[in-house]
Amino acid sequence: MDEIEVDDPREGEVMIKLDATGLCHTEIWYMSGGDTSTRPNSILGHEGCGTVVKVGPGVTEFVEGDRVVPIYIPQCNHCRECLSGETNLCSTLDDAYFGGSMNDGSLRFHHHGQDLHHFMLTSTFSQYTVVHQEAVAKIRPDAPADAACLFGCAVTTGIGAALYTSKVKVASKCAVFGVGPIGLNVLQGCKLAGAEMVIAVDPNPARLQRAAEFGATHFVNPNDGDSVQQVKQLTGGGADYVFEATGNTKVMRQALESTIYGGGVCCLIGVAKTGETVEVTPRLLIAGRRLIGTAFGGARGKSQLPGLIDMYMDGKIKVDELITGKIPLTQINEAFEDMKRDSGYRYVVDYSL
Ligand SMILES: NC(=O)c1ccc[n+]([C@@H]2O[C@H](COP(=O)([O-])OP(=O)(O)OC[C@H]3O[C@@H](n4cnc5c(N)ncnc54)[C@H](O)[C@@H]3O)[C@@H](O)[C@H]2O)c1
Ligand SMILES: [Zn+2]
Ligand SMILES: [Zn+2]
Repeated sequence: MDEIEVDDPREGEVMIKLDATGLCHTEIWYMSGGDTSTRPNSILGHEGCGTVVKVGPGVTEFVEGDRVVPIYIPQCNHCRECLSGETNLCSTLDDAYFGGSMNDGSLRFHHHGQDLHHFMLTSTFSQYTVVHQEAVAKIRPDAPADAACLFGCAVTTGIGAALYTSKVKVASKCAVFGVGPIGLNVLQGCKLAGAEMVIAVDPNPARLQRAAEFGATHFVNPNDGDSVQQVKQLTGGGADYVFEATGNTKVMRQALESTIYGGGVCCLIGVAKTGETVEVTPRLLIAGRRLIGTAFGGARGKSQLPGLIDMYMDGKIKVDELITGKIPLTQINEAFEDMKRDSGYRYVVDYSL
């Protein structure tokens, strides 16, 4: 923990004062060098909620005082991807995302005269961050920050994987491999979509138990026998929708094998290490299965995230139950160590503590 300097926002940028930020496994993956582009001198964090405190010139969408969630997948509404209506993967800030900077390559964070990199467009592990206006969603002011921040990743990713990417149908049979914070949200997404059967697959009995509260109707522990066979048996041949939320490429393969032939969909969510591959037997796909993946649950942050927050405020989505502990920023490293041991779901840094 140290003091840094944060520059004022420039053209099209806003400065956000953060109230809360969640800790995600993606940061652990990044810090472990899972991504070959890992830059040690970065301000990490991508699951935040706060208030706009300064707007740069040319900012049209925000004014000071707006309550916001930074979104690591932006929404510009004019790039090829946004206009296609087929994907949420807006490309307008690709240079910033992959460069660990603002889109023109410049940096807004400094420490003792040295520039620091940005991370995932958001950099929420700092009380103040500077973000392009395309990477910010405006939310209702009455949503509590500790819950709202989790819509910046975990909640939207999991629920969106079911609702937006896979478009789970009513009365379908679903299975979710890995019921950590992401998987739990997939479970509640499947339930919201009206799935008839929702199977939680996880070797951790405590996590399986928790899954029931989030909509799981059946439970599979891989330690009790081959998880693919167990899912096939419960569903009578395979699930209509299978989600993988572990980041383990062997589990990704099992998830695909657990889908029903002639229409089953396997949706990958977990982030594997750079260079790791999933072995796919062509016959599985020829027999009508589809292997797809999702980033940020296929959600368009500006237009869909506020509606999900409304559902939480209306009591239709569980979020508070995901929070293992609220911590001051000084305890962030201990919280990450806990997450590596699989203890807890989401730690939230409360900047007022
Ligand atoms: N695609 C995206 O947009 C996106 C967004 C956020 C996170 N993620 C990724 O999603 C993944 C899950 O995140 P999380 O925070 O829930 O992680 P987590 O580590 O808390 O949960 C993973 C779960 O998988 C279980 N697991 C381990 N081995 C298993 C097996 N053989 N079969 C079934 N389950 C098994 C673990 O017990 C654990 O409960 C991570 O890889 C994370 O990086 C992706
Ligand atoms: Zn995340
Ligand atoms: Zn776009």
